[in-house]
Amino acid sequence: MKRIAVLTSGGDAPGMNAAIRAVVRTAIFYDMEIYGIYQGYAGLIEREIKKMDILSVDDIIHRGGTILDSSRSKFFTTQQGKEEAIKALEEFKIDALIVIGGDGSYRGALALSEMGVEVMCIPGTIDNDVASTDYTIGFDTAVNTAVDAISKISDTSAAHNRGNVVQVMGRDAGYIALFAGIAGGAESVILPEIEADFESIYKKMLASKNMGKMHSISVAAEGAGDYLKIAEDMFNHTGIETKGTNLGYIQRGGSPSSFDRILASVMGAMAVELILKAQTNRAVAHKNGKFTHFDLREAIDMKKELDSELYRIMNMISM
Ligand code: F6P
Repeated sequence: MKRIAVLTSGGDAPGMNAAIRAVVRTAIFYDMEIYGIYQGYAGLIEREIKKMDILSVDDIIHRGGTILDSSRSKFFTTQQGKEEAIKALEEFKIDALIVIGGDGSYRGALALSEMGVEVMCIPGTIDNDVASTDYTIGFDTAVNTAVDAISKISDTSAAHNRGNVVQVMGRDAGYIALFAGIAGGAESVILPEIEADFESIYKKMLASKNMGKMHSISVAAEGAGDYLKIAEDMFNHTGIETKGTNLGYIQRGGSPSSFDRILASVMGAMAVELILKAQTNRAVAHKNGKFTHFDLREAIDMKKELDSELYRIMNMISM
């Protein structure tokens, strides 16, 4: 394995740059040639491929976004798209491809591996919904961004004696909502994975108000329903004025936390070293407190359960 390439795919996540940096520097350390593919799988098909060197990744460890840009390519999901992608890799004589992305990007990589390409996957998504790893690159930063916003919303909610339903990202997963709800001291979290008991949420809101509490924050995952409707229902059932705030794309940007930088740096280096050992078609991961790696097909087939104990504790200590 002498010549490898790296791309970022799907929604960008803070820490993707740190992962690219680690991939590039590790490859150079081992005298390999490293190519950057711009715009994910779409850019691979379009041959947006450039050789990278030490300076290509200088001063990027602290930057959000991805210097390689990202995309979600419909064409790549077709057979013709994948064949084009493979042609491009052959033209550039790429021995192995490193994909940094979420679940969808992993599936794309698996399809390529089944067509003979040597691939390696690194989990990069704010959603934390990649089953093979406990933490994905970008999740910790997104949670911190959400917590910061929740604190600010709590200030203004307290000043006006209001409730606020704060919608966070996560697609169909409630990890950002659960973690940000706990860390932000929210009064409730509403998740796609667990049916919310709205009657007790309303009761809790009223009890808190009667105790003299000045605000009530509910963190709602985007996959758990319309946050404005949830806010309206809260008002209708409690009489407490309740606003709604969608945190949206601010959760995807910003300088990565030190946790995400470390995750990205180790995973990037691991991915290259595994390729060197000819251990390809694998997904690097952080599981049970350790860095590790899994066969890509097995990684994709894994199921991730939201930690119901965290949900229980969240509900117990929020009042
Ligand atoms: O997967 C990351 C994510 O930010 C999800 O949380 C969200 O549902 C989605 O991407 C938004 O995608 P887009 O950037 O295409 O609007």
